[in-house]
Amino acid sequence: MEIRTQYQSTSRRRLNHDLPVMKLWHKAKQLGVWDPQAIDFSQDRRDWLRLEPLEQDVILRLSSLFQAGEEAVTLDLLPLIEVIAREGRLEEEMYLTSFLWEEAKHVEAFRRFLDEVAGDDTELGRYHTPCYRRIFYEALPEALDRLRHDPSPVAQAEASVTYNLVVEGVLAETGYHAYYEMLRRNALMPGMQTVVDHLKRDESRHLAYGVFLLSRLVAEHGEPVWNAIQLRMAELLEPALGIINETFASYEVIPFGLDENAFLGFATSQFQRRLERIDKARHQSLAELTEQGDLEATL
Ligand SMILES: [Fe+2]
Ligand SMILES: [Fe+2]
Repeated sequence: MEIRTQYQSTSRRRLNHDLPVMKLWHKAKQLGVWDPQAIDFSQDRRDWLRLEPLEQDVILRLSSLFQAGEEAVTLDLLPLIEVIAREGRLEEEMYLTSFLWEEAKHVEAFRRFLDEVAGDDTELGRYHTPCYRRIFYEALPEALDRLRHDPSPVAQAEASVTYNLVVEGVLAETGYHAYYEMLRRNALMPGMQTVVDHLKRDESRHLAYGVFLLSRLVAEHGEPVWNAIQLRMAELLEPALGIINETFASYEVIPFGLDENAFLGFATSQFQRRLERIDKARHQSLAELTEQGDLEATL
């Protein structure tokens, strides 16, 4: 540990509230304070008991993917926070404290749903198919853990692509879409619908941070980072879409009339949108990036 010669917040630099990440921090303090324990799941339980076994199965499956996914992002975020702290990016670290706290609440919310609505006491890892395991058991923990010994810009970019763009930006978004298709359309489980609304809002800030981080890395370090981003996106496209294929392949008749092609199209367009958003950063200076107002509006 190096000794310090000054602290930012007591220096003339103070805190920069104009930074886009500080806007996310202020939003997180307003919007990220919902309590998983306060969700009313009583109607959800009544709805659950009236579902067909296959309908229960597909909701349990999707929830098991989210449950482990939220645990993964909670466990794996710390190395990134450490890198940001070591680089002395105070405002970014302040925002990231809310990020980690929100992921922990997401873990709690899904487990409450599984316990109190689904009454589940089984080993849910049975739903974790090969492509899911490639991303959540291997690619994600490996990319983030690497930062402990390799905090290079390329390693940071690969970690952020995996975590923010693919896991949060593509997979989580596709998962919300599935909950809405099953629950909202059929006016089922109002408690879980509220949870998904909260998640979506929290995750939009997380994704906005990821896009900011990647844009900053591209603006600071140029082509090597941009190439690493594209390569990583291409690498993860196949297992990400594979999770959808494997999910649908598990049912002869898919419950709730879900349409596999619609989901593959949705996920692919999410992929494309994220890539186009980062591509913009290639032509943006660091000053322009910093002046950007509402990060979420640009997603
Ligand atoms: Fe989350
Ligand atoms: Fe997240």
